[in-house]
Amino acid sequence: MEYIFRIIKPSDAPLLKEFLYLAIYVPEGEQPPAKEITERPELSRYLENWGQPGDLGFIVELKKESKPIGAAWFRQFNKENPGYGFVAENIPELSIAVLPGYRGQGLGRDLLTRIINQARLEGYPGLSLSVSKQNPAVSLYERLDFKHVRDTGDTQVMLRDL
Ligand SMILES: CC(C)(COP(=O)(O)OP(=O)(O)OC[C@H]1O[C@@H](n2cnc3c(N)ncnc32)[C@H](O)[C@@H]1OP(=O)(O)O)[C@@H](O)C(=O)NCCC(=O)NCCS
Repeated sequence: MEYIFRIIKPSDAPLLKEFLYLAIYVPEGEQPPAKEITERPELSRYLENWGQPGDLGFIVELKKESKPIGAAWFRQFNKENPGYGFVAENIPELSIAVLPGYRGQGLGRDLLTRIINQARLEGYPGLSLSVSKQNPAVSLYERLDFKHVRDTGDTQVMLRDL
């Protein structure tokens, strides 16, 4: 499978919304939420008006068809409006999803590696995220040196020092 990465542009907003929906962890056997869930302010704040200072992300596409199959992006939040994975104002929060048929083939790792390297190049001291404790993605994050920093019930906040 040949794929390429490209930077997320403001015109990718509808696509980013699809990936935000896919980034919601649905435990096995449970019904996925309605798509409108991404309209809720606590989720829409991860992508609305994409292209703000500090917004950065990559879409991964199949090379032949230009079909988007995954995305990872980060945005900075502040103390007044902290994201679920908020750690500090200078530490952006990461979101990531890969299309279901393409999971488990290394794309998530490649997206994470790329966005970690880019965040380091831009001088951020770290990248954080919030993840359900049951999500198998936790082991992927641990392999990429994300450390557990906070417990919030069913979810945990993880931080990658840069
Ligand atoms: C998490 C996610 C982005 C990882 O991308 P990926 O391309 O599947 O990841 P990779 O192939 O590089 O790495 C595989 C690892 O991802 C994790 N993983 C999470 N969900 C998975 C799935 N449905 N299938 C396979 N691996 C999955 C596993 O930890 C696996 O590692 P393992 O070998 O220790 O089991 C992707 O599985 C996904 O979109 N999941 C649903 C949305 C989600 O949970 N987003 C993160 C919210 S914090």
